[in-house]
Amino acid sequence: MEIVRRLARLRELSRDARADKRKLALVPTMGYLHEGHLSLVRLAREMADLVVVSVFVNPSQFGPGEDLESYPRDSHRDAELCKKEGTDVVYMPEASDVYPRGFQTWVEVEQITKSLCGAFRPGHFRGVTTIVLKLLNMVQPHFALFGQKDAQQCLVVERMIRDLNLDVELVIGPTVREPDGLAMSSRNKHLSADERRAAPAIYRALTTAERLYARGEREAARLLEAVRDGVEAEQLLKLQYVELVDTEALEPVERVVGRCLLALAAFAGETRLIDNTLLGEERRGE
Ligand code: PAF
Repeated sequence: MEIVRRLARLRELSRDARADKRKLALVPTMGYLHEGHLSLVRLAREMADLVVVSVFVNPSQFGPGEDLESYPRDSHRDAELCKKEGTDVVYMPEASDVYPRGFQTWVEVEQITKSLCGAFRPGHFRGVTTIVLKLLNMVQPHFALFGQKDAQQCLVVERMIRDLNLDVELVIGPTVREPDGLAMSSRNKHLSADERRAAPAIYRALTTAERLYARGEREAARLLEAVRDGVEAEQLLKLQYVELVDTEALEPVERVVGRCLLALAAFAGETRLIDNTLLGEERRGE
C-alpha cells in the first residue's frame, strides 16, 4: 500500500492503472475510519483493481461554529486499517494543496441541498460537492463509493454526477450499525457514556416508523410523530429535524407514495448525529 501526499504522484498511479485497463475505485473519507468506511473499502476491492481511499478533513464543508477543529483525526490508525483491508493507495493531501491560495471555484447543486441537513448547514453541500468533484478529477475512478448513512449527500452527489455528465459510477453501501443499532460515525467518538447509551433511541425511533409503515401506515404526520416521540423520549437527545421527503426533489410528502426518505438529525450534547431509512417501493424506471 502506498501513502500518497502529492497530487502529481496520485495522477501518475491513476494514469498507469487506466493505461493497463485496470479499474479504479475511490472511497472518499474524512478519516477516523470505522466499519462503515471499511465495508466500502471491501466493496471497492471486489469491484476494482486499484482501490484508492482519500483521507481529508475538508474544511469547506464545515460552517462557522461547527466541529472542524475537533473532528477526530488519526492518520496512522487510518493507514493501518486501510492496509489491513487491502487498499492500494491512501491519498492524504495537505489542505493547502487542495485549496491553494486564490482558490475560488465552487460546485453547487442548487435545489436538493436546501432541505434536510442543508437547511441547518448552509454551504455544507457546496463544500462536499466541490471536494468530491476535485477528488473525482484527481483520481479519475470508474467507481466512487459512499455510505447510505449520509443519504442526502448520496443524492446530491448522484445529482452532480448526472448534471455534469461525470464518467463515474456511484456505488452506495448500506449503513453499518453498532450491535444496538447506532449508525457508525467518526463523530460517535465524542459521545459521553450517557450520550452513547441514549443515542440508539434514534435507530429505535426509525424502526418504529418502519414497523408502522409495514402495517400499512402511509400518513407522513403519523410516521413523523412516531420518530419524534421515540427520539424525544430520550432526554439527552435533542431532535434538530425529522422529515419525510421524496427522493428526487427532497421535498416533504404528505403520504408515502413511491420511494421516500425518512431522515433526521439530532444532537447528543455537542455531537450531531444523523440517520435515515427508506420507505416505499421504487417506481418503475427509478
Ligand atoms: O462523507 C464524508 O466523509 C465527506 O462528506 C466526504 C464525502 C469525504 C467529502 O469530504
